[in-house]
Amino acid sequence: MRIGPWSLPNPVFVAPMAGVTDRPYRKLCKRLGAGYAVSEMAASNPRLWDSVKTSRRLDHAGEIDPIAVQIAGSDPAMLAEAAVFNVEKGARIIDINMGCPAKKVCNAAAGSALLRDEALVARILESVVRACEPLGVPVTLKTRTGWDRSHRNAPRVARMAEDIGIAALTLHGRTRADLYQGDAEYDTIGEVKSLLKIPVIANGDIDSPEKAEYVLKYTGADAVMIGRAAQGRPWIFREVAHYLASGAYLPPPTYGELRSCLLDHLEDHYRFYGEFTGVRSARKHIGWYLAELADSQALIASINTIESTREQTAALVRWFDHRPADGPATRRVPQRLAA
Ligand SMILES: Cc1cc2nc3c(=O)[nH]c(=O)nc-3n(C[C@H](O)[C@H](O)[C@H](O)COP(=O)(O)O)c2cc1C
Repeated sequence: MRIGPWSLPNPVFVAPMAGVTDRPYRKLCKRLGAGYAVSEMAASNPRLWDSVKTSRRLDHAGEIDPIAVQIAGSDPAMLAEAAVFNVEKGARIIDINMGCPAKKVCNAAAGSALLRDEALVARILESVVRACEPLGVPVTLKTRTGWDRSHRNAPRVARMAEDIGIAALTLHGRTRADLYQGDAEYDTIGEVKSLLKIPVIANGDIDSPEKAEYVLKYTGADAVMIGRAAQGRPWIFREVAHYLASGAYLPPPTYGELRSCLLDHLEDHYRFYGEFTGVRSARKHIGWYLAELADSQALIASINTIESTREQTAALVRWFDHRPADGPATRRVPQRLAA
């Protein structure tokens, strides 16, 4: 699997998730087997580039190449400028987001709202590809199957994107109107794959090695991208990649492995966000890691009230001290992924 000049180690990718796949989490997912990671969406509006949130998203120190940055917006010239700016900050691949149904993004006619205006989509893609071509940086597109179920225009948009010079396409098997409801469908992804020569990455509701194998076979896609199922479960990438390569299952992590994975993650997280934001933004990750483990509810409740990183870590260490380091930290696979 290649994106432009970049050859990727395996076809199991971590999906961009704003507020989740920050630099510490992307690094962790790659260390635990993800073949590729795209940063959370960065604003294309230059007025926002100095905000603390955007500056954090522009910080790629220590990330494993290729660094891929996602941009979102609706103004072709502004998006081209944002692409070049991100390349100057270290991006080696630029991904354009036309998949986000969030009100904040869609109301400004960006994200998946763009699917309603194919002429504007063409102008955006041309503008960004033209800006990145001289820099040797491939441009990719992430989108949904259409605006709503009666307007599934992904096949037309995908062909246009390939003609314009997009290097790879990620398709989430839902329409904008679906939000995260219902099941992702893979027929449109299969249709798009059959129309294109560029790599197609299938996304939506992939939460296990078997599901990844099924989606790859059903759609013929070149890779899968996993989002919500990787929350609190960064080792899912090595599990899926190993199964796809060998047909064999890896054992679940032990409590000892989970403990060092979580504590290493938190150390990097605190360093990245600092004390005040770090302790608060770590809570959701800790909740995800522990949610489905036995006897974790009281700990999760207490973590949500602790206000210092040192105490947050200490509470976790005390909990893990009472678990067998070699015992499997088995989790139930969620029945339905929560958005
Ligand atoms: C909390 C959250 C934040 C997300 N942020 C982004 C984003 O910034 N850019 C984007 O293209 N998609 C974003 N997505 C969509 C995911 O990349 C992915 O397409 C979607 O979750 C479906 O995949 P899944 O079923 O494996 O989770 C986000 C999803 C979630 C749940």
